Amino acid sequence: MPTSALSHLRKTIGGTSFIEKGEGEPLLLIHGVGLNAEAWAPQITAFSVTHRVIALDMAGHGESQALPGDATLDDYVAQARRLLDDLGIAAANVAGHSMGGLVAIGLALSHPQRVKRLAVLNSVHERSPEARAAVEARASAIAPGLGFDATLDRWFDADEEALRNRVKGWLEQTDLAAYATAYRIFATSDRAFAGRLSGILCAALFATGEGDPNSTPAMAEAMAAQSLRGRSAVIPGARHMMTLTHWQETNALLSAWLAERLSSFDNRELRTAFGSFMTGVTIVTTSGVDGSPRGFTANSFTSVSLEPPLLLICIGKSAASMDVFRQARGFAVNILSEAQKDTSVLFASKRADKFDAARWRPGPFGNPLIEGSAAWFDCARYQVIDAGDHIILMGHVEAFSYSDGNPLGYARGHYITLGLEQAAVNAASSTSRTVVGAILESDNRLILLPDPSRPNGLTLPEVGRQGPNGSASQLHDLLLREGMDATLGFLFAVFENPGTREQCIYYRGEALLHARGRTVLADFEDIPWDRLPDEPTRSMLRRYAAERKIGRFKVYSGDHRQGTVKAVD
Ligand SMILES: Cc1cc2nc3c(=O)[nH]c(=O)nc-3n(C[C@H](O)[C@H](O)[C@H](O)COP(=O)(O)O)c2cc1C
Repeated sequence: MPTSALSHLRKTIGGTSFIEKGEGEPLLLIHGVGLNAEAWAPQITAFSVTHRVIALDMAGHGESQALPGDATLDDYVAQARRLLDDLGIAAANVAGHSMGGLVAIGLALSHPQRVKRLAVLNSVHERSPEARAAVEARASAIAPGLGFDATLDRWFDADEEALRNRVKGWLEQTDLAAYATAYRIFATSDRAFAGRLSGILCAALFATGEGDPNSTPAMAEAMAAQSLRGRSAVIPGARHMMTLTHWQETNALLSAWLAERLSSFDNRELRTAFGSFMTGVTIVTTSGVDGSPRGFTANSFTSVSLEPPLLLICIGKSAASMDVFRQARGFAVNILSEAQKDTSVLFASKRADKFDAARWRPGPFGNPLIEGSAAWFDCARYQVIDAGDHIILMGHVEAFSYSDGNPLGYARGHYITLGLEQAAVNAASSTSRTVVGAILESDNRLILLPDPSRPNGLTLPEVGRQGPNGSASQLHDLLLREGMDATLGFLFAVFENPGTREQCIYYRGEALLHARGRTVLADFEDIPWDRLPDEPTRSMLRRYAAERKIGRFKVYSGDHRQGTVKAVD
C-alpha cells in the first residue's frame, strides 16, 4: 500500500479540513465514522495523477470543526456541499466509504447537478431488524475507555496487523463526542433513502467486500438495482476496510467507474436530436469590466415571463467569454435577421476582433446592440443558474425594440431563411412556368453552362426553361450532374421575365467543382454579356457583380424593370 504520509497536504476552508492533491476532474472522497481523510491514502496517491483529489475530514474528525450533538445526516451532506462551493467546484465525482457513502448519496439526491458520478463503498441499506438492533446497541454503548478492539476485529483479518494499528490510531485520535454523534447517525440512517434511490440519475457504483458482515453484498446489489444507472461489485476476500486492505482491487473498480460515460448515450446523437428543434439565432453581448464588448452566437434563447419581463439564454462553460457573462451586470440579446448569417458565423468564431468586424452601438442599458437585428433586448442580470456544462443567464428586460425584418432560422446545423423561401414558394405557386437557377461562384469566378438552344450561348445553371416547371431539388440534381457541390446560401432574385412570362427564382452561393465538365468560369470583370440569353439575366448579373464588390447583397422581387429590392446587408 502507498503509505507516504499525506497530512502535510491538509488545508482548511470554512471549518472543514481536507487533503487536496492533483489536477483535473475533481474527485471528492468522504471517509467513514472515526476515520479521517488519510484513510483514503491509496486512492489519493493513485488518482491524483489524473484527478484533482479532495479528501475531506468529516465534521468532528481529523481537523474539521465538530457539529452539535443533535446533528443529522443532512448536516454532513451540507458540509460536503459547502466545501465544493468554497473550492469553486461546480460538480465532482463523489466517493464515500461506509457512513461517507450515505453522505455521498445524500449529496447526489439533494444536489444532483453537483455529482458527476457516485461511488458508495461498504455502505449500509435497509438493515435486517437484528443488524439494526446490534448497531444501535453499539452506538449507545460508546463510552470513554471502551476501546475499539471489537470494531477492529470486524474490520480486519488477523494478518492485517499493521493496517489495523494505523486505523486504531486514527480512531483513538477522534474526539469521542464527535465519534458518537456520527455513529448515531450511521446506526439510524440505513433507511434514510428508502424508496428514493431511483432519484440517483448519475452513473453509480455500489461496492463492498465479500466478507463485510454489516455492509453486505446483498445491500450493495439492492442499492444498485434501485438507482437508475447503478451497478454493484463485490471484492472477493475483502472486509469493511477494503479501501486499505484491498486497495488495488478497490482502485481498479474506481478507475473503471471514473471512466464511465456521464450519460448512457452518445452525446453527438443527443446534440443532433436537440438540433431538430428549429430556433432563431441570436448574438448575446455584454461589456467586460474593462468596457470591452464581448459576444457570442446563441440559439438557446427563450422568452420566460412578461410580468416581470424575463428571458434566458444558456452559455457553455467552455466559451471564452463565459466568466465575463457570469459576472456581468447585464447582457443584450440581438435576434438576427435573415440577412445576418455572416454575423452569426462571425460571433460563433473565437476571433478576438468580432466587434471590429460588426456594426454595433451601445444599448440604453449599456450592452452592445448589433445593427440590422430583427429585434433586441437590453437586459439587467436577473439570475445565473448552474446547469451541467452550461450556465443559464436569466435577464430582466430593461429596453427592447424590433423591426419587420424576417428573422434568421436555424435547425439541424443549417441556417433557414423563411421569408426568402416563402417568396420563392409564392412565385412558384403562380400559374406561369417557373425557372429556378443559381448564381454560383467558384474561386471568385462566375459559373456558366453552355446553352443548348443557342449556338455559342451560355446560361446560368438553371432548370425549368423547357419541360416541366423547375424546382430547387431539380436544380440540385442538375448541379450534381454537372460536377458541382454547391451551397445555395440565399435567395437573390424573384421576378417575372416579361418576354417569356416565366417566374424566375435565383439563388446565390458557392460551388466546389469536382470535375470541370461543361462548366465555363467567367471573371466578374469580363462576363461574356452577349452570350447570355436575355436582358433580365444580364441586369440581374450586373446587380450581382456590383453588390459583391461592396459585399452587401439585396433581394430583388418584381419584373426586370420594376420591383422591390430588399436590403440584406
Ligand atoms: C447557430 C449557433 C447557435 C449557438 N448557440 C449557442 C448557445 O446557445 N450557447 C453557447 O454557449 N454557444 C452557442 N453556440 C456556440 C458559440 O457561439 C461559440 O462557442 C462561440 O465560440 C463562443 O464564443 P467565445 O468562445 O468567444 O465566448 C452557437 C453557435 C451557433 C453557430
